[in-house]
Amino acid sequence: MTVSPDFADWMREQRTAMEYFLDRQLPAPNVAPTRLHEAMRHATLGGGKRIRALLALAAGELVDAPRARLLCVAGSLELIHTYSLIHDDLPCMDNDVLRRGKPTCHIQFGEATALLAGDALQSLAFQWLAEESETQRQPGQIIPLIHLLAVASGSRGMAGGQAIDLESTTTPLPLPELEIMHLKKTGALIRAAILMGAHCGSAPLEAADLQPLTHFANRVGLLFQVVDDILDATMDTVTLGKTAGKDDEHQKATYVTLLGLGPARERAEELEQEALRTLARLPLATQRLEDLTRFVSARHH
Ligand code: IPE
Ligand code: IPE
Ligand code: MG
Ligand code: MG
Ligand code: MG
Repeated sequence: MTVSPDFADWMREQRTAMEYFLDRQLPAPNVAPTRLHEAMRHATLGGGKRIRALLALAAGELVDAPRARLLCVAGSLELIHTYSLIHDDLPCMDNDVLRRGKPTCHIQFGEATALLAGDALQSLAFQWLAEESETQRQPGQIIPLIHLLAVASGSRGMAGGQAIDLESTTTPLPLPELEIMHLKKTGALIRAAILMGAHCGSAPLEAADLQPLTHFANRVGLLFQVVDDILDATMDTVTLGKTAGKDDEHQKATYVTLLGLGPARERAEELEQEALRTLARLPLATQRLEDLTRFVSARHH
């Protein structure tokens, strides 16, 4: 199995569509309060691999989901992700000055505005989903999407994982706990992206499809953060668009700091293969998700 020949074109088209959607839907920079809106746009637009959006769009294609709903779902995921990055970069968390090749939100706009930009992006994500429900004949279909996103973002998902991450710098984390932390801080939103995309079809997925898709989503989520840990230790700041080597400097618990580079790479390879094997069990056309899995694994930033 190899990457499909049109994958790069597909990815480029979807990213362009996402950028256009986000640019149009975010509050304009000249609308008051202008500084807050500028900060939200600075953090969200013009950068980012849009992996969560791409996974949602690819999962939605599996079930012939309506494009407008998928774009809304993908956009809301990117807002939550961007909010998590703004807060992750704050001095009280990872204290980072560079993100997506640009100054972090708090460096550009100050800490208070960055904090509010993160808050406002989080609210806006749910506002978009609620507004999408108004355009549908069956608004009840949106409630499971809101639920998936809320659980993935909150204390049992991303925010909870970030709390474990902060504690891990003072208390050593055993390997099983490291996996739980990664599944929450990064895996939860990636899992939600795939399940939300698959939930956008006109009929709910059969349990026989949902079970392997959920397993796949968990593996890709974990794979994503293991690769992020490897890239932090092996790539340079310019390639990453964010400061390299921060995990070691801040004594973060990561697959590399706990296991070493070789075993971390082996773990990533195992997770990639497990994710691909799980996809193969689905009686659906999963080529895009396979391509995205390989992309997540082989990326350089
Ligand atoms: C970085 O996520 C933060 C993690 C969850 C590891 P991405 O690598 O997806 O960041 P962007 O959106 O492409 O900048
Ligand atoms: C961030 O993990 C996870 C979230 C933002 C939820 P990292 O702290 O490793 O992300 P980077 O390396 O700063 O992008
Ligand atoms: Mg962090
Ligand atoms: Mg960080
Ligand atoms: Mg990292």
